Amino acid sequence: MSAEDLKLGGHEDTLALSALAAAIAACGPYITQGGADWKLATGALAGFSGLYMAERFHKRWMHSARAYLPRDQQGRVQTNDKLVSHPGALSANHEDRYLEDALLLGYMTDTGLPYYLPTLGDARPGNDPANPPNDHVFITGMSGVGKTVAASLMMFQQIQKGGGVIFADGKIDSTNIESLWYMLKWCGREDDLVVIHPGDPSFSAKYNPILIGDPDEIASRIMSAVPKAQNSAGADFYRNSGMQAVSALVAALQRGGYAFTPADISLLLLSPTELEKLPNLPGIRGTEEGRVVNLFINRFRVANRNGSGGSIIDVNKVKELFGGIGGRMGLMGSGNFGKVANTTRPDVNLFDCIMQNKVIYLPLPTMGKEETAADFAKMFVGDYRTAVSWIQALPVRLRPNPPTLFFGDEPGSFLSENWDRLFEQARSARQRLMLSPQTKANLDAVALTLFPKLAGNCATKLLFQQGDQETAEWAADLIGMKLGVLRTLTESSQDSASGSSSDIEGTASAGAGTGTSEGARHQEMYRVSPDDLKQLGKGECVVYWSGKTRHHLIVPMIDFSSRFKKWAGSPRIFAPENPRRPRPYTRDYGIYQRLDQVLKADQEYINAQTVKKEKGDKK
Ligand SMILES: Nc1ncnc2c1ncn2[C@@H]1O[C@H](COP(=O)(O)OP(=O)(O)OP(=O)(O)O)[C@@H](O)[C@H]1O
Ligand SMILES: [Mg+2]
Repeated sequence: MSAEDLKLGGHEDTLALSALAAAIAACGPYITQGGADWKLATGALAGFSGLYMAERFHKRWMHSARAYLPRDQQGRVQTNDKLVSHPGALSANHEDRYLEDALLLGYMTDTGLPYYLPTLGDARPGNDPANPPNDHVFITGMSGVGKTVAASLMMFQQIQKGGGVIFADGKIDSTNIESLWYMLKWCGREDDLVVIHPGDPSFSAKYNPILIGDPDEIASRIMSAVPKAQNSAGADFYRNSGMQAVSALVAALQRGGYAFTPADISLLLLSPTELEKLPNLPGIRGTEEGRVVNLFINRFRVANRNGSGGSIIDVNKVKELFGGIGGRMGLMGSGNFGKVANTTRPDVNLFDCIMQNKVIYLPLPTMGKEETAADFAKMFVGDYRTAVSWIQALPVRLRPNPPTLFFGDEPGSFLSENWDRLFEQARSARQRLMLSPQTKANLDAVALTLFPKLAGNCATKLLFQQGDQETAEWAADLIGMKLGVLRTLTESSQDSASGSSSDIEGTASAGAGTGTSEGARHQEMYRVSPDDLKQLGKGECVVYWSGKTRHHLIVPMIDFSSRFKKWAGSPRIFAPENPRRPRPYTRDYGIYQRLDQVLKADQEYINAQTVKKEKGDKK
């Protein structure tokens, strides 16, 4: 909506404003006559004027955002094929009570009825708020067929309801931030946009994915960057040892109140002098955590063979265990990723954002910096898990309502195999997960079991136009078969002719016959065939819900008028003026700020080791 829209003019506005002016004048000192009539008339005039103006502004607002469906020339909804919908189970009347919480997904092509998806928090009778139904959504379809458009429609409704959204975007589309901004602005929620943008730190909130949580959670986030070695006991052993050691380091830092960043952790893991110092730092020395971390560090120690007694940290042993993790964390702590993540006073923390129903957008620069982006996303998801577990610990009435909508677009780049457990936790923490991979092959690249695992955990599947046979067949198989009747029609014809030339008279005969036979036999057929799924048009999908119902829908697309866009201006992101260091931290570990000193000290430590060793060897 532009300022133009709000300009006053025309006879209706004049009339309404005159009524308001008359009402105000009547309240002034010029009319002294009292009595109920005057009061009544004044009230009526003010009321008329107020209502008219409110309605007028409202109309302008309503018209500045439009939802439209693809239509053909006659103004009908256009579809290639009308697949038969299951008798409506989730189609609902506008009067239905539980619609309050449900999200409109689209319109059924055969009946034109709206189709709503209930949410976890819906008010349907028999719905236990502590154990809500599974309402996770799985969206699949080839590129450019309307997956993001459908998700945007749901996000818009979520924003209108005042709910929170987390949008992790595996394929950056620069218009997504703007779309979210328009949606928020349209709903008067312009303070709720949180953008964590490792590809463009100048337009990003500062966010440290490894600061919040208990030591084990943080350690597993840090270790999620290390690729899992499959079927290798040795590699698994190293992974577990690494995990325990990192957990002990984090526990010690937290005990001392030292806040750390990915760059700090990277440096600490590779610095023998800092590892030596850690158990003796103020706040850590003499504590249980200090003793535990000392034990771990002692594993790296070897006898000092230069005769001076005591022991030293063997740099090679440190490298063996921590080299990989330290390197990955180093990448996370440098460049643009570092500009976003290296902070001990983050602008945002995920738990607070979810509890405040913020709209979080996380574009992942998967092009070019694929591995680091995936690591960042995995840590973000780890942080999300922690937040989810905290929400689970809250009493039901304090959990997000409406449920948070987590949308993972093109999630192949950041999912890991252990995602399935999140679905269960998310459900009771009132988080609706919505994932949209293009094809099965996209997720097979991460792990062969991932696609069926994810699909298996989502009660609702939105199947858009499929571009590849494998996913189309999978989707058709999923919806299942029915016993159909295969009709056959057989036609036959015969001609015959015979003759003999040896007779004087000659004999000849000819015959012809035709026949038709009809048959019918029962045969298993696809309810929705792979070919049906390959032929769906843009914005069309088959929704398969809870293993029971299937509907052919057409999804409306949300668009904002150019006048509204102009009025809404460019996006503004949420960032507090004075971000604070979160609990339990009271000071910064700050090893990265002392980088030069640390590197110098390490070099001296290593030199001393090698020189002394050589001397010791000669003896
Ligand atoms: N329901 C719809 N109504 C009208 N147009 C649509 C609809 N859905 C999609 N489109 C058109 O198709 C374009 C691509 O849609 P969308 O971005 O949702 O594709 P996608 O499936 O998310 O693709 P990708 O996998 O590449 O991200 C939209 O920009 C829009 O122009
Ligand atoms: Mg998309």
